[in-house]
Parts: sequence; structure tokens; C-alpha cells
Amino acid sequence: MTFAILGCGIVGLYTALNLVESGVRGSEITIVAEYLPGDQSINYTSPWAGGNFSCISPDDAQTLHFDRTTYTHLAAIQKLLGSGCGLDRRPSTEYWEYLPDQRKIESLSSYLQDFAIIPSSQLPEGAAFGITYVSWNFNCPKFLEVLKEYLATTGVVFVRRKIQNVDEMFEFARTVFNCTGIGARGLGGAEDENIYPARGQVVVIKAPHINENRMRWGTEDVTYVIPRPDSGSQVVLGGYLQANNWCADTWKTETDDIIRRTSQLGAKKEC
Ligand SMILES: *[C@@H]1O[C@H](CO)[C@@H](O)[C@H](O)[C@H]1NC(C)=O
Ligand SMILES: *[C@@H]1O[C@H](CO)[C@@H](O)[C@H](O)[C@H]1NC(C)=O
Ligand SMILES: *[C@@H]1O[C@H](CO)[C@@H](O)[C@H](O)[C@H]1NC(C)=O
Repeated sequence: MTFAILGCGIVGLYTALNLVESGVRGSEITIVAEYLPGDQSINYTSPWAGGNFSCISPDDAQTLHFDRTTYTHLAAIQKLLGSGCGLDRRPSTEYWEYLPDQRKIESLSSYLQDFAIIPSSQLPEGAAFGITYVSWNFNCPKFLEVLKEYLATTGVVFVRRKIQNVDEMFEFARTVFNCTGIGARGLGGAEDENIYPARGQVVVIKAPHINENRMRWGTEDVTYVIPRPDSGSQVVLGGYLQANNWCADTWKTETDDIIRRTSQLGAKKEC
């Protein structure tokens, strides 16, 4: 049995890893993609992520389940890829300006390492809820490259090709996995008009003294501080999430706003 995977972002690579872990020989897997790890394009999303483990679903049961599976599996992946792979554990603090869904908190408390709810007297101004736990941080560009290298050693074949029509994939295998992401929009034979981009902007600084994550879930925006493993002390500050915005430019006003928000992130209540 052979398999073909369309797309070489984190979803395509992770799909290949899952196949290998379930006993498929690497040489029976072909990943076909317009972009491969190491590339930089606005249409290649994965390397731009911050990237932290943090649960994005407010309450959806299936997503909460996926989050748990992901968190639990990352330890095995780190062990497999070895030190310096761009994936590591970091202490994390998250604040919400509103009360998160109880189902989410129950789910998180059941598996996150060192999970604790912050007493309300210790919350910063404007925060309604907070937790601490040990999270996973990614150095996304590095992790993608290391994962690709590992898969290549198992025999996985990488083909750089821009697929115009999904039918072309069946030249490679009879079983095809769709891991396209934003590319699904213009994919012939399977155009998905419902998929849209979400523009982000982050600031990357060098800060050896910052070794913990901070996140603040606001009603308007999410603010975060994410140290990047194996990067020489880089820290990602953010962020923005603008649905349906294709603009690739960066704005000084947004940079200033990110620095202002992240500087205040941990501020304690004034007495
Ligand atoms: C990114 O994808 C969009 C939509 O398919 C396309 O219009 C645009 O030209 C692409 N940009 C680059 C730099 O490839
Ligand atoms: C951190 O995780 C949250 C929840 O999944 C997500 O919304 C956010 O985009 C992540 N941040 C980065 C920079 O990857
Ligand atoms: C492929 O996956 C994308 C999401 O990544 C989705 O939008 C699209 O509808 C899928 N296409 C097919 C043919 O399954």
C-alpha cells in the first residue's frame, strides 16, 4: 500500500510521522508540495507560527480531545527527534479577561503537567481567570526542518510540485491525504471557497532572561510571549489575528502595540 500526502506544513509532516509510527515503511509515503521546510512564502503558513501549545477551542469536545492527544504525544516526538530539534517544555501562565468554559478547564486540568489555577487575589488587573502549567514550545522553522530530515531518513520521498488539480495526486498513490491548508482555496477539482487566511504580526526579540510563556486571552486580541527553543534566546511577542486579511506587510503601529501589550502582560494589581 502506498500513500501520498498533499502539503508539507506541520499537518502533512505530522501525518507522515503518524503513518511511520503505525508501521508504514517510509519509502511507501510521498509528500508532494509547492513549499518545503526552509522555504519562506506568505502562502506557506507553518514556519510563521509562534508557536506554543495552548488550547484554542473554547469548548468543542473533539478539539479538546485533539489538544490532549497532541500534548501527550509531543514528549515521544521530542525523544524521537533528539535535543536541539526546536521543541521543548516551558513553564506557562495564561490569563483570561473573561471566564473560560468550564469544560475546557476540566479537560486541561486532567492532563497538563503541573496544572494549577491561579488564586484570584494573584491575578493581574483586568484578568478574570488564570492557570499555570508546563507547555510545549516550538521553534517552528527549525522543527519543520528537523522533522523533514527525520522522515527522509525513514525513506519518505519529498516531491516539490505545485498541484493544479487534486487528480494529479493519484499519480503518486491510491490513498491521498489532504494537508493543504490555505492552498485548498485554489486547488483544482476541490476548491474550497470557505477557507480564508488569518493575518498575524509578531515581533521577535533576543531576551535570554525570558524563559517562560505568558498569554492573555482578551475579548479583542490575544497577547503572548513565547521563548523559542534552540534559537539563541529568541522570544516571539504577539499578536494579531485578522480574519480574511491577505496583506503581507508589517506595520509599525502594530509592532508598537505588541510591545506595549506584552510589556504590561504580567503586571500585578497596583495597591
Ligand atoms: C499566494 O496565494 C494567493 C491565493 O492563491 C495568490 O493569489 C498569491 O499570488 C500567492 N502569493 C505568492 C507569493 O505565491
Ligand atoms: C498559541 O496558542 C494559541 C492557542 O492554540 C493560538 O491561538 C496562538 O496562535 C498560539 N500562538 C502562536 C504565536 O503560535
Ligand atoms: C482539504 O483540506 C482543506 C483544509 O485544510 C479543506 O479546506 C478542503 O475542503 C479539503 N479538500 C478536500 C477535497 O477534502
